[in-house]
Amino acid sequence: MFPLRLPLLAVLISLALCQFYDYDEQPVPMLGPSGPNCDRECDCPISFPSAMYCDSRKLKAVPMVPTGIKYLYLQNNQLEDIKAGVFDNVTDTLRWLVLDKNQLTNGKIEKGSIDKLTALEKLFFSFNNLTEPIIPPSKALEELKMTHNKLSKFPSGLLDDKENLTSINIQHNQLTSDAIGGAFKGPKKLLSLDVSHNKLKKLPVGVPSSLEILYADYNNIESIAKEYLNKLPSLRYLRISHNKLMDSGIPAGAFNVTSLLELDLSFNKLQSIPEINEMLEQFYLQANEINKFDLASFCKYVGPLNYSRLKHLRLDANNITHHSMPAESVNCLRQASDIMFE
Ligand SMILES: *[C@@H]1O[C@H](CO)[C@@H](O)[C@H](O)[C@H]1NC(C)=O
Ligand SMILES: *[C@@H]1O[C@H](CO)[C@@H](O)[C@H](O)[C@H]1NC(C)=O
Ligand SMILES: *[C@@H]1O[C@H](CO)[C@@H](O)[C@H](O)[C@H]1NC(C)=O
Ligand SMILES: *[C@@H]1O[C@H](CO)[C@@H](O)[C@H](O)[C@H]1NC(C)=O
Ligand SMILES: *[C@@H]1O[C@H](CO)[C@@H](O)[C@H](O)[C@H]1NC(C)=O
Ligand SMILES: *[C@@H]1O[C@H](CO)[C@@H](O)[C@H](O)[C@H]1NC(C)=O
Repeated sequence: MFPLRLPLLAVLISLALCQFYDYDEQPVPMLGPSGPNCDRECDCPISFPSAMYCDSRKLKAVPMVPTGIKYLYLQNNQLEDIKAGVFDNVTDTLRWLVLDKNQLTNGKIEKGSIDKLTALEKLFFSFNNLTEPIIPPSKALEELKMTHNKLSKFPSGLLDDKENLTSINIQHNQLTSDAIGGAFKGPKKLLSLDVSHNKLKKLPVGVPSSLEILYADYNNIESIAKEYLNKLPSLRYLRISHNKLMDSGIPAGAFNVTSLLELDLSFNKLQSIPEINEMLEQFYLQANEINKFDLASFCKYVGPLNYSRLKHLRLDANNITHHSMPAESVNCLRQASDIMFE
């Protein structure tokens, strides 16, 4: 599905070697002498000349990026602004831009910088001070990470031409449901959306039917729209833990869709177990107010071919014990190897 071209593979291997995801760790093993055009404050390994490492150097300004650079690492600096022109030699070649852990605000990202990048595939912009998303014009964008900012709006239409965008991470922001209405309609290949730790009152509307993963933990979600999941036939993993879901906010059959494998409704205010489909494998309901075990939530009929595929079920920190489970449960829940009551 995602053919790895050779340079990308090289990057992945290099990154694995130098613990890319540990930003405090310098990529020491791969630093040799720097390439000829490299900025003096950065490193461009001879063995990997299309990458420029400028991370963790207390930089206050983005250096002029030399021709030929495709991968630019600027995380963990003290950047407060991005000046016009710094990307002028790489506008149609820069593929990865990593800006995590700086102090960037929208007002100080000058016109003539990110808005010129037409080939960007990955934009990592977490742990900054953005109040609105910064989206490059590149139609090749595949991955967008803007977690731990101060995003309070995500205007609709910004992602409309991002046909290859598969993953959006915007957890830990200040987004409300109104602020993201229609924001994710555009990217028709979107697989994964994480909107956890925001201020949503409902699950995001207008998300593409390609979606497989939706995480909305730690919001203020009180109800699920009727038929919400029927419009997402590929959805496998749905997490809505640490919200305000009550029985009255869950329409009959809301979670009874065959695509779901994992459903996390833990840390809500449910008093009964919502109906689920026979195909669900992981179901998390701990820390609710559940006070009865209704087997019909899992199986309406039980027979040789009609039984729940549930493997793991968590019911701990509720108001029930294993004595609440009727004896017939063994037939319906015949694959459940792990049912937790405490
Ligand atoms: C940018 O491109 C111009 C024109 O090709 C060239 O003169 C200049 O040296 C380049 N600057 C860098 C930092 O690569
Ligand atoms: C960014 O936000 C942090 C935390 O709220 C704050 O301390 C800092 O002053 C902000 N920096 C800028 C440049 O706005
Ligand atoms: C989207 O990805 C495909 C497959 O990698 C590629 O051929 C195509 O050019 C990309 N589209 C854009 C607009 O970059
Ligand atoms: C789920 O929906 C199917 C098909 O509509 C139905 O046959 C089944 O009884 C429902 N399951 C539960 C637990 O409500
Ligand atoms: C039982 O399972 C079979 C085969 O999956 C299905 O065709 C039938 O509709 C199911 N019966 C009920 C009552 O759900
Ligand atoms: C817990 O369950 C018991 C027995 O079903 C019931 O008497 C009690 O009121 C319940 N407590 C709460 C807080 O729902």
